Amino acid sequence: MLPLKKLVQEHMLIMKMLDALRGLAASAGSGGKISAEKLDYAAKFLMEFIGRFHFGKEEEVFFPYLESMGMGRHDRIIEVLLSDHQQARQYASTFAGAIENYKKGQARALIEAAETIYKYCGLVSKHIEKENKTIVLQAAQTLKEQDYIELSKRFEKIEHETIGANALEKYEGLVEKIG
Ligand SMILES: [Fe+2]
Ligand SMILES: [Fe+2]
Repeated sequence: MLPLKKLVQEHMLIMKMLDALRGLAASAGSGGKISAEKLDYAAKFLMEFIGRFHFGKEEEVFFPYLESMGMGRHDRIIEVLLSDHQQARQYASTFAGAIENYKKGQARALIEAAETIYKYCGLVSKHIEKENKTIVLQAAQTLKEQDYIELSKRFEKIEHETIGANALEKYEGLVEKIG
């Protein structure tokens, strides 16, 4: 699959998960009981698929590659995107901490988890829109056949080092379990 198409497909899966998470947060906020299993799946998706797999691919391969071609410098967009990643990871770890406390019996922790997930969803959905409209679009207009071949190689390498090439299919299943 073409590397940009891959990133966009991952964005679509993440957006789908954000919708499912908003639903989860809404029922937690209105006093509903949420199974610990669902919360664990949500944390797993945020930490592994988004934090390690998707952000990792952008931070270690995609952004540096574009920067090396002079893209994303004048508008400092990559700096903005990297700081979004950092903030998202902070929210994800607050969320994971809150659900651990919830599992230990602290009912109040579910509210903290729900509040954090709303912040996470707001941040990451804006982030993805930003990426699609800036860096992904610029890349689509600039990259040549040779760049696609090189990026695909580098993506595959990092995919194998993190979750594996079937990450999309594997994590799609988690979205179904939450939605
Ligand atoms: Fe990103
Ligand atoms: Fe992204």
